[in-house]
Amino acid sequence: EDAEKAGFETFMLKEIHEQPRVIRGLLDRHLDAAGRIELADLPWDREFFRTLDRIMIVACGTAYHAGMYGRLLLENLTGLAVETDLASEFRYRNPKISGDTLVIAVSQSGETADTLASIRMAREIGCPVLSICNVPGSSIVRESDGVLFTDAGLEIGVASTKAYTAQQTAFILLALYAARLRDEVEPERSAELVEALRRIPDAIHYVLERQDAIRAIAEKHHDGASSLYLGRKFNYPTALEGALKNKEISYQHAEGYAAGEMKHGPIALINEYLPVICICTQTRDEVYDKVVSNLKEVEARNGRIIALVTEGDENASRLAEDLIAVPPTLDELSPVINVVALQLLAYYAAQARGTDIDKPRNLAKSVTVE
Ligand code: G6P
Repeated sequence: EDAEKAGFETFMLKEIHEQPRVIRGLLDRHLDAAGRIELADLPWDREFFRTLDRIMIVACGTAYHAGMYGRLLLENLTGLAVETDLASEFRYRNPKISGDTLVIAVSQSGETADTLASIRMAREIGCPVLSICNVPGSSIVRESDGVLFTDAGLEIGVASTKAYTAQQTAFILLALYAARLRDEVEPERSAELVEALRRIPDAIHYVLERQDAIRAIAEKHHDGASSLYLGRKFNYPTALEGALKNKEISYQHAEGYAAGEMKHGPIALINEYLPVICICTQTRDEVYDKVVSNLKEVEARNGRIIALVTEGDENASRLAEDLIAVPPTLDELSPVINVVALQLLAYYAAQARGTDIDKPRNLAKSVTVE
């Protein structure tokens, strides 16, 4: 088993470090030299994407957070109405979907019972089903009309890491592909996104090289009872995923929240003991100033701010007790880089708390029963 860890202390840390390679692999497979995305294995033509009415994304756990991110990208780029739901909720709804709704199931294992039940329901209604999945031959793959493989390789750590960033990457590729077929994206904008996409593996590598600084922050804050993760728009799902990672492996209560909702509840929790991890990297976005305002409110209540910022950032940085700086990228793509910092933060908090990181208590890698 130690040999398979390739010198890393856990599978989870090894898998965190595999992320640049996994993403590069996906880009090599689906991007041609001219920067055009080809998803040749999908069984649908241009006409299919043009006549589509809606997209419904279903998933559980970490894959659900990837689906939330996917929704924002698809909505932004393709002009389609997109919704994301938890598979365990979706399967008991009476969703208004029909033959021109593409249902996308996101699943690392391809065996999650609720996700499988959701696609069975969707196919009965007559919806085409695309799965974004990591395991060839899995039940969800076998029962889908089309598959976009995440090709992240075997993921052993129960807390998902490389499968998540691979799912995010798959959504970026799919959104750009569908947008091109639907003539919804300007070639210049598409080229700009592709260029930024190609730089993501190096940006993640940069974050990994600074893991000791992230470790020091995790060690400083690891003994609190709780922590709050805030993010907005593209990084709202990142905040949820960061909090989930922390809960899963460090057993410390953590809550992910949409930053704009802080005033509707979580603000009551803020005191001098509460670490608030705030994602402030969307520097070109209209929400940046609003997130900085959130930080000011946390600061005024003596909350302990850990800010995730873009290198060179000044506004958010001034308010933070601790800083994690990541390389600049386009706002839309920043979640793929940011989440790696949050994976490491959770990882080192768990290590400081002495938990069984690869096999956290009560959790299963794949939940095949309801
Ligand atoms: C379990 C795992 C999570 C995973 C979720 C969905 O809860 O512990 O890491 O995100 O199932 O699994 P799937 O295989 O469908 O992505």
